[in-house]
Amino acid sequence: MLSSSTLSIPACTDVPRHLAVIMDGNGRWATKRFLPRTAGHVRGVQAVRRVVEACGKRGVEYLTLFAFSSENWRRPKEEVSLLMRLFIQTLEKEVGKLEQQGVRLRVVGDLEPFEPKLRDLIRLAEQRTEHNSALNLTIAANYGGRWDILQAMRRLLESRPDLAGTPQAIDEAMLADHLSMAYAPEPDLFIRTGGEQRISNFLVWQLAYTELYFSQDYWPDFGAKEIDAAFEWYKTRERRFGRTSAQVSGVV
Ligand code: FPP
Repeated sequence: MLSSSTLSIPACTDVPRHLAVIMDGNGRWATKRFLPRTAGHVRGVQAVRRVVEACGKRGVEYLTLFAFSSENWRRPKEEVSLLMRLFIQTLEKEVGKLEQQGVRLRVVGDLEPFEPKLRDLIRLAEQRTEHNSALNLTIAANYGGRWDILQAMRRLLESRPDLAGTPQAIDEAMLADHLSMAYAPEPDLFIRTGGEQRISNFLVWQLAYTELYFSQDYWPDFGAKEIDAAFEWYKTRERRFGRTSAQVSGVV
C-alpha cells in the first residue's frame, strides 16, 4: 500500500486521486422498463465506458469498479452466466481501446472459480496494458473485502513464517502490503449508485477514511455529469483524518 490514512495524513486534492465505485441498480433500471435484469447489466457496460473516460479526462489516477462480489454467486444461475459472458465480451472488445487510451487494467479478486477462458483474457488484458499509467483501472471480480484481508494475512505468514510465533510484531503496513490493491493509495472517494447506503464487503480495509457518496441514480444512468456532481460534493468535504476542524484549517 502506498500510504495509510491511519499511519499518516494523505495529501488531499480537489479531484480524488482514487475513486472506488459500487455500480448498483442495473436490475432495477431494467425492471422499471419491463426488461429482464440482464438488460440492465448490458447497459451498465456503457456506463462503465462513460465513467472510465470521464475519470481519465478529470485526472483521476485510480478508478476501482466493483463488478462482481464474492456473494454475487448467490444470484440466479442465468444472471451469473450472463455477467460472465459480458465480462468476456467486454474484455475482448475493449482491451485495444484501453491500451490506446493509456489505461492500465488490473483485475482483483479470487479468480480461481472463473472459467479458464475468462482467466486467460484477464491475464492477457493485464499484460497488454501493463505499460500504461494514465489511469489505473481496477475491476474487482469475485472480490470481497474480508477475503482480501484473509488472503493478505495468509500471504504475509507464508512469506514470514516467523511472525506466527511473534504476532505482536505484525503491523498494519505489513498486512496492507499483501492486500490485492497494495499498488494503489486508499480511495479518497467512494460512490455507490442505486440509492442503497452500504459498503457491501467492498474495500473493507481501505475505506477507513474514504468520503462516502451515495447517488439515487441507477448505474446505467450514470455518466460524466453525475461524476462531476460527486466531485463537486467531494470538494466541499473537510477531510480531518482524526484531527479537529481548527487543526485542519490551520487555526491552531
Ligand atoms: C449491481 O446491480 C451490479 C452488478 C452486480 C454487476 C455490475 C456489472 C456491470 C456494470 C457490467 C459489467 C462490468 C464490467 C466491468 C465489464 P444490481 O444487479 O444489484 O442491481 P439491483 O440492485 O437494481 O438489482
